[in-house]
Amino acid sequence: MPAAASAATWRERDAELIAAAYHRYSDLVVESAQGAHLHTVDGRDVLDFGCGIGVTNLGHGHPAVVAAVHEQVDRLWHTSVTAHHPKMIEAGAALVSILPPSLDQVFFTNSGAEAVEGAMKLARRATGRSDIIAFVGGFHGRTYGALSLTASKAAYRRGMGPLLPGIHHIRYPYCFRYCSHTADDVCDLVERELQLLFSTTTAPETVAAIIVEPVQGEGGYIVPPATFMPMLRQVCDEHGILLVADEVQSGFGRTGKMFAVEHTRVEPDIMCLAKALGNGMPIAAMVAGHRVMGAFREGEHGTTYGGNAVACAAVVAVIETMTRDRIPERAERLGRHVMERARGWQTDVQALADVRGLGMMIGLEFLQAGAPATRLVERIATNALARGLLLLSCGIDGNVIRLIPPLTIPESELDAGLDILETAIREETAA
Ligand SMILES: Cc1ncc(COP(=O)(O)O)c(C=O)c1O
Repeated sequence: MPAAASAATWRERDAELIAAAYHRYSDLVVESAQGAHLHTVDGRDVLDFGCGIGVTNLGHGHPAVVAAVHEQVDRLWHTSVTAHHPKMIEAGAALVSILPPSLDQVFFTNSGAEAVEGAMKLARRATGRSDIIAFVGGFHGRTYGALSLTASKAAYRRGMGPLLPGIHHIRYPYCFRYCSHTADDVCDLVERELQLLFSTTTAPETVAAIIVEPVQGEGGYIVPPATFMPMLRQVCDEHGILLVADEVQSGFGRTGKMFAVEHTRVEPDIMCLAKALGNGMPIAAMVAGHRVMGAFREGEHGTTYGGNAVACAAVVAVIETMTRDRIPERAERLGRHVMERARGWQTDVQALADVRGLGMMIGLEFLQAGAPATRLVERIATNALARGLLLLSCGIDGNVIRLIPPLTIPESELDAGLDILETAIREETAA
């Protein structure tokens, strides 16, 4: 097929050849990208406020990452476990240097779901216990173990069962939905659910881990009350349960700190990382302290591609760039600006019911007549895309717009995107 084929022709070929399972947020056919811009085969230049679902935090084609990858491509791609290679060790050292101090060992994987699978196995192996507690609205991936934790949309599970036994779900502290008074009420509610679970369903001494997103992503960009993570830490410590933080989406500067757990001063026992770790190179990691990671004896867990040398070169460059350029601080500053602008729209856009976020992980929840405004969010995204801005939705009802532009985006481009978003919101809520 000629490279210059039209977008429509590419989409037809896609429909023939590629599994229909992929849910696509747009019908753009992208042939190149730079910074916050996607360039399509039919000549469109679209601002990217989705970052390939929270992956390209440094923007597309960041020069330092591109250079590191080019350099490594000519040197060494792959050894797997046939040998050691320096890039994997350098990537491990770079990662450990930015992690909470108690997390000092790394297991590299290829995807977030695999990191989650590893965390589940490690938690069981380290505690000798079977059960795992996860949260309604949580998203942890689509492989069987991860899917058994995922509870953000029933469609992900339909026809796939039976899933892994021993998984229990309790509600996440989604204050906007569940709470009538102060934010702390909702944390009490979650604690009560946990205690009820322990007294009725699974004794705490059978629980290996609680796995939690420190800011819930796919479930609606929900920022929990400050008391939530310390409460989980305390419950885990009391009962010898491991606390697993899934920072696949919230990690690497997105929330205004390198990791979202840093906002809470809680150190988890295991962390799952992916997405922005390689800024688009497929690499992920499960990290833990020596004591916990040591529960895996040699050969008990493994991977062929995890820790691939080219992907590890990207990791080293990503971490060096994020640290040198103070990317988390930038996310915090830009995020405050986005929140201020979006909160301003609330004064006269009634359907914009909640604006919430941490750093540049920001959710706009829409309601109409008290109900989730799923169709409105679809219309806003379509309107914005026609004007040159790609937006992603999220939330258990799909009624939340998530704003996750690159953390390197110039202020002028950020404002240009927000101008488009504001116009789209005003037009569609007036319609
Ligand atoms: C919090 C979280 N965990 C795990 C995953 C799964 O990652 P992957 O799609 O790389 O398997 C995702 C993906 O969106 C995620 O947001």
